[in-house]
Order: sequence, then structure tokens, then C-alpha cells
Amino acid sequence: MADSTARTGSDAAPLVHAVNVTKAFHGNEVLKGIDMDVARGEVVVLLGPSGSGKTTFLRCINQLETIDGGRIWVDGDLMGYEDRGGVLHHLTDKQIAGQRREIGMCFQRFNLFPHKTVLENIIEAPTQVKGVSKAEATARALELLEQVGLSDKPAAYPSQLSGGQQQRVAIARALAMDPKLMLFDEPTSALDPELVGEVLKVMRDLAEGGMTMIVVTHEMGFAREVADRVVFMDAGVVVEQGPPSEVIGNPQHARTRAFLSRMRQEEAAHAAAQDPIAQR
Ligand SMILES: Nc1ncnc2c1ncn2[C@@H]1O[C@H](COP(=O)(O)OP(=O)(O)O)[C@@H](O)[C@H]1O
Ligand SMILES: [Mg+2]
Repeated sequence: MADSTARTGSDAAPLVHAVNVTKAFHGNEVLKGIDMDVARGEVVVLLGPSGSGKTTFLRCINQLETIDGGRIWVDGDLMGYEDRGGVLHHLTDKQIAGQRREIGMCFQRFNLFPHKTVLENIIEAPTQVKGVSKAEATARALELLEQVGLSDKPAAYPSQLSGGQQQRVAIARALAMDPKLMLFDEPTSALDPELVGEVLKVMRDLAEGGMTMIVVTHEMGFAREVADRVVFMDAGVVVEQGPPSEVIGNPQHARTRAFLSRMRQEEAAHAAAQDPIAQR
């Protein structure tokens, strides 16, 4: 096993190891050499202005985009490629699907199947993709519904649920595949303000349960309280990173400070708009 590309898989190695990842769309370089390690059980909040490349980076980790340069390993597996004696070979679609199955993703839009019940949505992938029996998948789905606070909703259709409930189903659906890693891309930004907290609570519980998570969010309270580390990206580079108390509490770079003060202004404007007394 001298092959350096063999699964490292040891507990000390980072779960996500991204090195010098680059990505361009039609000559527009969107990721300009991203390095990022995420330890097992670590919660990383990715902050940055719109267009800074956050979504693209998550999509590259999950191979919804191919990368132009660099390497991404997840749990010791090189994403998308096999290294045979120093030469990279593309994995087959089937092999890539196998790697993607280990990573759960939760987007701004929930994308539940509208014609399936909550339970059917959750058992779909485990039964169809993993070959889990319907009975086993159902038992697990009911546990997950309990975990996300929706044990009374297995027979509901998505249209009968609030946005916050749908997003919690989407999280349960991702968890049903037993992912090693969860990627969240602005999971609460399409929700009415009063529904944000219930989704953040599920994410916080998941973090406390030891899930490794990369979370793109503008929810500063969540970042402060739940993140082990905050990574601030701008224009395709990592500008600064560290514990939330440092990056949010005492940012070192002008770009981070400008972003955070803009976020605070937006939050204040939003709070004023929500406050009936201030509106008079
Ligand atoms: N599929 C695509 N084709 C062309 N340009 C894209 C595509 N996806 C993203 N981009 C561009 O890449 C840049 C980064 O986008 P994105 O990763 O969505 O940023 P963020 O999530 O930080 O807002 C933006 O300029 C965006 O327009
Ligand atoms: Mg985005």
C-alpha cells in the first residue's frame, strides 16, 4: 500500500481536503484556488457576498460541477478521479454517483417530489438507490421525522406543509442516505422569517450530534453559536477564516468588515420592517 492515493480514512485526517480548487465559467474565474480542510465533526460556516463562489464551491465538492484545477478529497477519496501511478483517470458516472451518495445536500429550495408524501420522499433514495428494504427505510424515515420534529407528518404532501416544514423534510431526506458530510446552501433564505428558527434548530441539533457540515448562510447568530470556524470568501478566494468570535467579532480584513457591516445594516432594516411600532 505504498500508493499515496489509497484511502487514508484515518480519523485524524480531515474529512474534506480541498487543495487549490479552480473553476471558471466561460473564461470567468469564479474559484481562484480555494484551499479548505474540514475536520470530522466540524461545522464550517461559509460567508461571503453574492457571487463570491460559495455555491460553486459546494457544487464542486458534490461534483455537480467539474473543477478545472486542484483536488478535492472527501474521507480520503479523490472526487471524480482515480490516481493510477500519478496519472489521473476520470471515474465512471457510476463511480461518481457512488461518491455523491455519501454527501448530503440541502439547498435554498427544497425540491421535494410534490406528488409523493413526506414518507415517500424520504424513502425514495434509500430504496431505489441503495436497495434498502421498504420496511427498513420506513423505520429509519420515521426516526428522522422525529429528529426534525415532524413525526406527525409522514402522510402529508409537501403542498400541505409550510416552507420550514418542507425544508426539515428535505434535511431528513438527505440524512436518510447516511451521509458523511452535509452541505447546506442558504437553507433558510427562502423562508418567511418566522420559520427560519425551526430549520436552524434542526441544523444545530445535527451539529451537536457530530455531523460534519459546511453551511452557507447569512444567519449570523447561527454562525456565532454553532460554527466551529467561519470562512469568509470574496471574489473566488478565501479572504480570512477562524473562530466566529474572531472572524465576525474582530475581522482583520477590510473586505470582511465591509461585508459584515452591510449584513448588519440589512438585519437592522429587516428588523425595523418587522416591528409594527417602528412602522408607525
Ligand atoms: N453555471 C454557471 N454558468 C455561468 N456562470 C456561473 C454559473 N454558476 C455560477 N456562475 C457565476 O459564478 C459566480 C459565483 O457564483 P456563485 O457560486 O453562485 O456565488 P455565491 O453562491 O457566492 O453567490 C457568479 O458570478 C455567477 O454568476
Ligand atoms: Mg449561492
